[in-house]
Amino acid sequence: MTDQRFLHNQWSSRLAFILAASGSAIGLGNIWKFPYLAGENGGGAFVAVYLLCVIAIGIPLMIAETMLGRRGRQNPINTMLTLTREAKASPAWHYAGWLGVLSGFLILSYYSVIAGWSMVYMFKMNSGFMNNVSAESASRIFGDLKSSPEIQFIWHTIFMTITMTIVSRGVSGGLERATRFMMPGLLVMLLLLDGYAMSSDGFGEGISFLFKPDFSRLSGESVLVALGQAFFSLGLGMGAIMIYGSYLPSHVSIPRSTTFVAFMDTLVALLAGVAIFPIVFANQLEPTMGPGLIFQTLPIAFGQMPGGSFFGLLFFVLLFLAAITSAIALIEPAVAWLSENRDMTREAASLWSGVTCWLLGLGTVFSFNVWSENTWFGKNFFEIVDFLTANFMLPLGGILVALFAGWIVMREVSEAELEMGAAYKYWQFAIRYISPLAVALVALSAIDVV
Ligand code: PFF
Repeated sequence: MTDQRFLHNQWSSRLAFILAASGSAIGLGNIWKFPYLAGENGGGAFVAVYLLCVIAIGIPLMIAETMLGRRGRQNPINTMLTLTREAKASPAWHYAGWLGVLSGFLILSYYSVIAGWSMVYMFKMNSGFMNNVSAESASRIFGDLKSSPEIQFIWHTIFMTITMTIVSRGVSGGLERATRFMMPGLLVMLLLLDGYAMSSDGFGEGISFLFKPDFSRLSGESVLVALGQAFFSLGLGMGAIMIYGSYLPSHVSIPRSTTFVAFMDTLVALLAGVAIFPIVFANQLEPTMGPGLIFQTLPIAFGQMPGGSFFGLLFFVLLFLAAITSAIALIEPAVAWLSENRDMTREAASLWSGVTCWLLGLGTVFSFNVWSENTWFGKNFFEIVDFLTANFMLPLGGILVALFAGWIVMREVSEAELEMGAAYKYWQFAIRYISPLAVALVALSAIDVV
């Protein structure tokens, strides 16, 4: 009897972690961002580098970050403080936790605006507005949304309000249920779209664009973008997975659960790419069109399939749910820190962080219209926040986590936490040498230093 219960509990806690971590990992990054970055950075070669980054850097780091969380069992800043004390290292390491809190904050500010776009599309799909839409009309409809600060303002506000209301009540069972339905739902919808893509004229061209690497099209900056996207998509380098790791019971295998999450995350991104590029080529659209890519291609597919307005609605509802579960992970480190260290209630902590994030998000709302001419180094406000976080702050946070887990945390501790047997030495090598060196090299080459 006792054994039975023990086994059952074990399974449900592993599942709870997998759901929370997948909820954080799978989001706009997979469906909205991965395809447009692949499109802007030449396709196949970018995808190949991305996959390499996930396997060689992302997975070992995901294991490391989860392990630090489980060992420290608090918010990222306090976890880093506790672990530095345990290892008798310099307390300066806890600034890595700070960096993570700040990155989550900055990312959520624009993430919420894009999630607002997907909410707008839920309604557009449902109203039958997209039935048999042509590529030109789809572009025009998206253009109208982009050029309207008012509409984006409203949906950004609604998305932030929903997110912060959920966060203020603590990460709840309802969310776990939502993720349980969202993940298989998203997979089914993507497979449906992939089925549509297969029957389209652009399938061959789309697939070879995505999977046939042409390394001559790859610049140093593209490699950095692929690396940043691996961090962004897996939700690494900012303490989110550390927090989820802190709830993980000690008998669950970290390497196995995190590898599964990384696999699912990558699968969703690739399936999204396979759905989108055939539509791009079949309609003579430009793969380089940027953040509007899914909004200008998927409605064409839904508009042509039977039952398309229902499936389109379902797809954007699922995308919205995926965005919510990631948004919660983005802001949770800040809220946990404010409520644990600054003596605030969870409600007050959520309110303050939500309002600040919302204000910052207005910069992104205006980037696509009234401020679109205001650029620094050729980038608008949204692009600067995105570049700074994904390509600089997350990789830097990742290097710090790798160095900390590989060199500072005692070997006995990480060995006992990970229980990887002979594979431990590969993980340790990856985390001690490969991750920090690869990230440093990529960053330096992107700014033309090497
Ligand atoms: N991984 C999320 C996505 O792909 O949309 C975004 C994200 C969530 C990044 C949580 C970082 C994070 F900590």
